[in-house]
Amino acid sequence: MPFVQIKKQYLAFAMLLFVALFLFNSRPAFQCQYTTEMPVSYLPTIYGITPTYARLAQKADLTRLSQTLMLVKNFHWIVIEDSETKTPLVANLLKESTLKYTHLNAKTHKSKQSTEMDVNICVFKLDSYFTRWYCASGVEQRNEALNWLRNHLSSATDKRGVVYFMDDDNTYSLKVFDEMRKIKNKVGVWPVGIVGGMRVEMPLVTDGKVSGYNAVWKPFRPFPIDMAGFAINATLFLDHPEAKFSRKVQSGFQESEILKYFATKDDLEPLAENCTKVYVWHTRTQKPSILDPKKLKHPPLPDGHIEV
Ligand code: UGA
Ligand code: MN
Repeated sequence: MPFVQIKKQYLAFAMLLFVALFLFNSRPAFQCQYTTEMPVSYLPTIYGITPTYARLAQKADLTRLSQTLMLVKNFHWIVIEDSETKTPLVANLLKESTLKYTHLNAKTHKSKQSTEMDVNICVFKLDSYFTRWYCASGVEQRNEALNWLRNHLSSATDKRGVVYFMDDDNTYSLKVFDEMRKIKNKVGVWPVGIVGGMRVEMPLVTDGKVSGYNAVWKPFRPFPIDMAGFAINATLFLDHPEAKFSRKVQSGFQESEILKYFATKDDLEPLAENCTKVYVWHTRTQKPSILDPKKLKHPPLPDGHIEV
């Protein structure tokens, strides 16, 4: 009967469809088996070096940064407090994170800052609120971290890695960490957003090589790039034990001061799609303005016992 024949055709078609769907569904499982058998590629450790100092927005800044860093694989955070002793605020924040970290402290030589009012060391700078003598920050702290790193690497079996100097108030995309793991020899560079009076400060690239820079703030600097715009092959710090930051150079020249030990312009490896993408921003947290309770007609309840 034609009716039965049609039914048989339907049945055959349904079975074919079932087999096809079964094969299609099982494909990811085969792919999965295949990828696990592939060799796991090497992921260099990133050593992030962050100086930090006590201020009202410190915990907010460190919370934002640490929670970004928790998403980065194979990352070791070296946090150096600008203080005589380590504070419970920073110690607890680190403990409560899931990060691999090293907690250090080194106090900025304040006496030097106030006595050596030399234009070679300090610059007169317009802050958000007032103009003041201003000295490069993070010098003693980053040098302390480099001492720790050299000790650590010299006893480590795997000396490979990448060193990145990170301000505690910048904004970092996870993509910038992927980029620095691509460094082949010495130093990787990429653009930094909202810095030096520009939307973006960046190395200029011609035929895959750094040919110049677009900086307008102190463009005569040997390397007119911000601290957030480069990372260094960690083994170079063992090859150059003398490499460190210096109080003898002013703010803005610290980047050139450290890079001079390792690279010339020709050695710079342009990353972030030939320096055409912004994956890090030199954001700065505004200084909070808190009302003086003593000057208020109805003072609020005391809150000094609460960590902010
Ligand atoms: C710019 C650069 O991005 C910094 O990398 C560089 O250290 C700094 O200039 C400089 O040479 O003075 P800027 O935003 O002006 O950055 O500096 P901050 O973010 O205020 O300080 C840089 C780092 O040092 C921060 O992680 C901050 O917490 C720390 N710092 C700042 C101290 O440890 N002690 C201080 O007294 C001030
Ligand atoms: Mn900053």
